[in-house]
Amino acid sequence: MFTPQGPTLRELAVQAFSSTMRGYDLLAPKFDLTPYRTPDRVLEALTDTVRPLGPFERGLDVCCGTGAGVGVLRGLCQERVTGVDFSVGMLDVARAAHTGDPGGPTVDWVRADALALPFEGAFDLALSLGAFGHFLPKERPELFDQVYEALRPGGLFVFPVGAPPAVGSRAYWSLLGFDLAMRARNALWRPPFVMYYRTFPLADVVDDLVGTGFTVRLLPMREFGRRPDGSPRVRLVVAARG
Ligand SMILES: C[S@@+](CC[C@H](N)C(=O)[O-])C[C@H]1O[C@@H](n2cnc3c(N)ncnc32)[C@H](O)[C@@H]1O
Repeated sequence: MFTPQGPTLRELAVQAFSSTMRGYDLLAPKFDLTPYRTPDRVLEALTDTVRPLGPFERGLDVCCGTGAGVGVLRGLCQERVTGVDFSVGMLDVARAAHTGDPGGPTVDWVRADALALPFEGAFDLALSLGAFGHFLPKERPELFDQVYEALRPGGLFVFPVGAPPAVGSRAYWSLLGFDLAMRARNALWRPPFVMYYRTFPLADVVDDLVGTGFTVRLLPMREFGRRPDGSPRVRLVVAARG
């Protein structure tokens, strides 16, 4: 939730009427005080679920923001961890927050669009957190292809996906309302701010990963429990490059 130290309503409004990149440049100094940063609980559960899939040497955090996923990768990778994002403001905050430690992997930061990643066969683990809503469904195959190329053969691309809220629930209506408001904003205003909550359904995502060449499995993230129908509340998508 937002705190008094976090962005004001006015600051959020200015950001929302900027481009996606500029919006994050403006939000960067207060980003870690917003609910948009991936919470520590998710980061810890992610670390616990991914660790048995290792060991890993080199890790990539795609759309790293202020470095939440870089922190996870620093605990999982031996040699090098790279955060990539297109917002200079977010990368500046990330750089200041992660000074590295002598015994740990080297940490570096790269400014790039995730749809044009400057890596080839460089990593054995990639992850992405909280950023898929910034890509339209038609951009997903290109995004996945970029990550595929960045991985070495056998490398893993992992990310958590929560079960969708029950139709008619409060969460259902609030996500639907947000997406409709964003569509109206983007129909009326330039530049667009691309951020949608309901454009990343698991079945379509798996289809796009498989279409890219990944082999996909889904692991329950046990820390989040199960829904009344027995299905996991949160799954980890584990996509292996062939
Ligand atoms: C909600 S933040 C998530 C940050 C971080 N991964 C976390 O979980 O806290 C989304 C991030 O994606 C970045 N982003 C959005 N579209 C991008 C793109 N096309 N290429 C690179 N970064 C992008 C934004 O700059 C922002 O830092």
